[in-house]
Amino acid sequence: MSWVDDLEHRARVGLPAYVAGYVAAAAGGGECLAEELAGWEALRFRPRVLTDTGDVDLTTTVLGTPVRTPVLVAPMAQQVAAHPDGEAATGRAAAAAGSLLGVSTNTAVPFADVAATGAPWWYQVYVMADRGLTRLLVERAAAAGARALVLTLDTTALATDAPGGQGVEPTDWPPGPARARATALTSEDLADRDQGATAMARDLDADVVGWLAEVSGLPVLVKGVLRGDDAVRCLDAGAAGVVVSTHGGRRLGSSVTALRALPEVVAALDGRAEVLVDSGIRSGAHVAAALALGARAAFVGRPAWWGLAADGEAGVRSVLDRLTAELALVLRQVGAPSVRALAPDLLDPATLPAR
Ligand code: FNR
Repeated sequence: MSWVDDLEHRARVGLPAYVAGYVAAAAGGGECLAEELAGWEALRFRPRVLTDTGDVDLTTTVLGTPVRTPVLVAPMAQQVAAHPDGEAATGRAAAAAGSLLGVSTNTAVPFADVAATGAPWWYQVYVMADRGLTRLLVERAAAAGARALVLTLDTTALATDAPGGQGVEPTDWPPGPARARATALTSEDLADRDQGATAMARDLDADVVGWLAEVSGLPVLVKGVLRGDDAVRCLDAGAAGVVVSTHGGRRLGSSVTALRALPEVVAALDGRAEVLVDSGIRSGAHVAAALALGARAAFVGRPAWWGLAADGEAGVRSVLDRLTAELALVLRQVGAPSVRALAPDLLDPATLPAR
């Protein structure tokens, strides 16, 4: 049992079953998530010798923001269900670890509280049917200090849409303190809007990328890209980069994995923009592999959520610190003095998902 499995176990014990189930949930029969986990785990390095790794350098920048570790916290909804401080605790942990966090549209924590943690943060956008509401949110996030927008495009159709389907991204949480649907919107904002104004827009075209950049004044990363041609379209539409992601296997059970898509997206963008990745990353070796394949940084999702649920701020901090320490060790072991020295030749191509 890995320490992440152990952490999940500890987190689950203290959570109501519906919350634990929501976090662990995967689309379809869970085949995509299982393949993500197995895929990262199956990768093997080809270590180099005779390189000076006395001092490994883990620092980098993401969209110009300096970070001390390329292990970032993915935007995740409903964090107050893990811990009353929610993203404020996650933010304090990210600040202490020299990391960065994504803040979900579905956060219950005021932007000012996230900003007060001192951690750099990116605001994750689900574009709503009523674009005026989305505009209000991104303007508020930008004013509060968000350094970029993460436009998530992989969840316009959810498992909830199937008859009797169980959604993995519930927009209506059971009532109570854990309710967290875009609480950055006030009742005045919502007055006189059409019914369904806050539902996710499904009619998005490439113009939405430029529109978000314009109204926020921030760089826009598109999250949920799994194809090289789509990555190029996103850039052409004004994106500053992409996040290769299957939403942690929560989008489509029969989807290709983010690991499988990453080399294609990196090749298609050919250094023109930053590529980040997430889904199934559970160890420093996985992070090292992601970077070797061309990712600028890796997000972790559930492990951070479980850390928050198990031990609050200290739990998230411990997840980030452990993954970072593991990454440093792998760098030394493979003969890479810095994260920049990670390159595809350090991986055994036979262990990559078949093309
Ligand atoms: C998510 N994810 C997510 N993504 C997003 O863009 N907006 C969101 O509100 C959420 N909410 C959310 C809640 C929970 C509980 C989970 C587990 C995930 C997806 C997240 O950003 C990321 O893509 C995955 O979590 C990465 O996969 P792993 O690390 O969880 O396997």
